[in-house]
Amino acid sequence: SFDVKIASSGMTFTIPADRTVTAVLAENGIEIDMVCEQGVCGTCITRVLDGIPDHRDQFFSDEEKAANDQFTPCCSRSKSKCLVLDL
Ligand code: FES
Repeated sequence: SFDVKIASSGMTFTIPADRTVTAVLAENGIEIDMVCEQGVCGTCITRVLDGIPDHRDQFFSDEEKAANDQFTPCCSRSKSKCLVLDL
């Protein structure tokens, strides 16, 4: 598991291995627009302020992935213990 922290509120949520970031956030009243839910469309793109995403999408280029400043929370995860999201 890993944590996501919402920059605007400071609230932190744990994302278990069997759940997506978007599912856990939605359950806590934070809705992120989604279309494909598979890392293809880019609709859910969210800025990352700190931490290293584990990119699982096919939307970003390798260069964009390496920048570690945005990710697709419908399917991507985290390599660091905590990801701080610009939400
Ligand atoms: Fe399509 Fe996340 S909803 S990439």
